[in-house]
Amino acid sequence: MNERILIGDLSSHTGKTVSISGWVSVRRDQGKMVFFDFRDRTGTVQGVVLPGDGALMEIAKMVRNEYVVSVSGVVNARPERNVQADKVNGDIELEIKGIEILNESEPMPFDISGDTLSVDEGVRLKYRYLDLRNPRMQRNIRMRDKIITFFREYMHKNDFVEIETPMMMKGTPEGSREYIIPSRLEPGKFYVLPQSPQQFKQLLMVGGFEKYFQIARCMRDEDTRGDRQPEFTQLDFEMSFVTQEEVLAYTEAMFIELVSSLYPEKRISTIPFPRLTYAESMEKYGSDKPDLRENKEDPDELAFAWIIDFPMFEKMDDGSMQAAHHPFCSVKPEDREKFLKGEDLFSIRANAYDLVLNGFELSSGSIRIHKADEQAQVFDLLGFSEEEKQAKFGHILEAFKFGTPPHGGFAPGIDRIVMLLENQPNIREVIAFAKTGEGKDLMSHAPSVVSEKQLKELGIALITKDKK
Ligand code: AMO
Repeated sequence: MNERILIGDLSSHTGKTVSISGWVSVRRDQGKMVFFDFRDRTGTVQGVVLPGDGALMEIAKMVRNEYVVSVSGVVNARPERNVQADKVNGDIELEIKGIEILNESEPMPFDISGDTLSVDEGVRLKYRYLDLRNPRMQRNIRMRDKIITFFREYMHKNDFVEIETPMMMKGTPEGSREYIIPSRLEPGKFYVLPQSPQQFKQLLMVGGFEKYFQIARCMRDEDTRGDRQPEFTQLDFEMSFVTQEEVLAYTEAMFIELVSSLYPEKRISTIPFPRLTYAESMEKYGSDKPDLRENKEDPDELAFAWIIDFPMFEKMDDGSMQAAHHPFCSVKPEDREKFLKGEDLFSIRANAYDLVLNGFELSSGSIRIHKADEQAQVFDLLGFSEEEKQAKFGHILEAFKFGTPPHGGFAPGIDRIVMLLENQPNIREVIAFAKTGEGKDLMSHAPSVVSEKQLKELGIALITKDKK
């Protein structure tokens, strides 16, 4: 066989004999002739086996959809009347001279050639590796890569350093339930998976990096829905010696450039992005993530907006008080006195901001506390005892005693960004191996039981309900 030519490059080989490798998307047996659509990562092309070569015709009749093949043939220009101008390779056709079957395939459990959105999602997730062959899923995942690459390059151009932070850590209070990992060497003790790299990115500021970012995997044990998954990805970043205004300006310029370089057909409704305080947004729209699009039917309209001055604390259903974003946000100077006195707590505003897009919260961040005594005051107000404070946050309080610079940051959710830019109905469509609403992986059947031996090693005994 000759060197493999990619299907997307075939038109520059018109008149020549070439070899391609890929999958059979479609096979149309017309008796004397057999037509195929072949597919590789770069596109599709039509091929035809003409009458004459009996051995070749025999193989052509054996081939089925989604077989993996290497095909040799002559690239012919199509006669004028057969040209499909709107299709890639619509002006050429491969006259097949040889087919080598590299692997066979069972019939597909569902049609992957059309838009699989109408297929039962349980079936799609069970056979995700097949669903990924679908052109829309291919595009979603490839655009996700382009968006992440854009962010990574943008951050590096602006002097940020990408640093990996631990996946096995001690709990961090960011409002959600944590996934826990038992320790074998210290039975009865547990690591937790990060809800975000929040504490580590702040400690990297103590560590003198000044500008950190990470394409960060985050894990949260919360009820999933269309814009939430138990595992998701953030463009997490943090800067030292920075004002809120600078974080907002940096982020806004980055999103404008993202749209103009990867989605030039899209239109940002208002630049600079409108800004609303949390109180204004709640009063005017009854929401802290208002959808400000002029035309909600227009798939190319992007209505970004900043929501600023979030409350520092919020009341929970059980009457208790929690940090509205997380307990590391600093207080607005105007409300500092109330904070120090511990008065009128629900009216205290934080230097905390969100970026919203078309009615979704895209990102949250804040200028942080960088002084140990102020950080301790927040924990006191949240009702932590001295022991709890030391046990949970002793390392942060200690670090803040050693010349911590003022700092702040932000964490746009990558899955939501890709979903909105690709006009997808939920984030599962832009995650290669997504989980169901109940947090299950239907393909590999995670979560699953582990062996008695593993449990014993970990010193774990299960309490099983309704054991049959
Ligand atoms: P926050 O918890 O607001 O802030 O998260 C920031 C962004 O991450 C995305 N996101 C999610 N995406 C998919 N599934 C989820 N379950 C999920 N949860 C959050 C959203 C959200 O806006 N450490 C802080 C950031 C900071 O203060 O710098 C944090 O994680 O797009």
